[in-house]
Amino acid sequence: MRGRLVTGNWKMHGNRSANASLLDGVLAGMTDLAGIECAVCVPFPYLAETAARVASSKLGLGAQTLSEHESGAYTGEVSAGMLADMGCRYVLVGHSERRALFGETDGQVAAKFAAAQRSGITPILCVGETLAEREASRTRDVVFRQVDAVLEACGAASFAKAVLAYEPVWAIGTGRTASSEQAQEVHAFLRSRIADRDSGTAANLRILYGGSVKPGNAAEIFAMEDVDGGLIGGASLVAGDFLAICRAGASPR
Ligand code: PGA
Repeated sequence: MRGRLVTGNWKMHGNRSANASLLDGVLAGMTDLAGIECAVCVPFPYLAETAARVASSKLGLGAQTLSEHESGAYTGEVSAGMLADMGCRYVLVGHSERRALFGETDGQVAAKFAAAQRSGITPILCVGETLAEREASRTRDVVFRQVDAVLEACGAASFAKAVLAYEPVWAIGTGRTASSEQAQEVHAFLRSRIADRDSGTAANLRILYGGSVKPGNAAEIFAMEDVDGGLIGGASLVAGDFLAICRAGASPR
């Protein structure tokens, strides 16, 4: 059975002292958490410090984006090799904010996915539709297009060392969550899309849900058959809330 993963996405929040108390709270609560893998995706400048803090814990470390290039004259960019050097296990790829605000294309997202894997980092590929796309009944087309770009470039077997995250854009940071049925429906589509190419990989692929997950709704969403955990933005900035969500993920299916 697929083990659940809950990962925080701090986005561009925090500072050294706020991060230290957040991590104190999360790490204190991690000790009695079993049956769930947890991680935090932190801003680049705090990777080294966070890596040192989590090294002796069960909390995994991730970054929020990376360059598709390995090295060179790319001022301001951070390579997969650098993230591996910092101890990252995960990196978010194609988060909707990267796609919408920074113009990341499906092709670039696929190149970043491949770059992460070349350095032994597990990409968490984010896909999701906007409200207008959902209302135009285009949800399936949009998430398939986003996943297909990576399937074409990297092959279905590459998903054996990846995580997929369904994050409806209209649910991110809005307080509006997809219902557990809506999440399950899209997760099942996504799994079937991978299964069309590689059923074994699809069966083992962890598909996270993200978008306004809170302590009050996590258990219901995580209970769905094809939901294998969550990608948590706002609620990951409050240790008690993040831990409550992790605990919801630790309960048996
Ligand atoms: P949210 O963000 O939990 O604040 O909606 C999720 C995300 O963007 O990863």
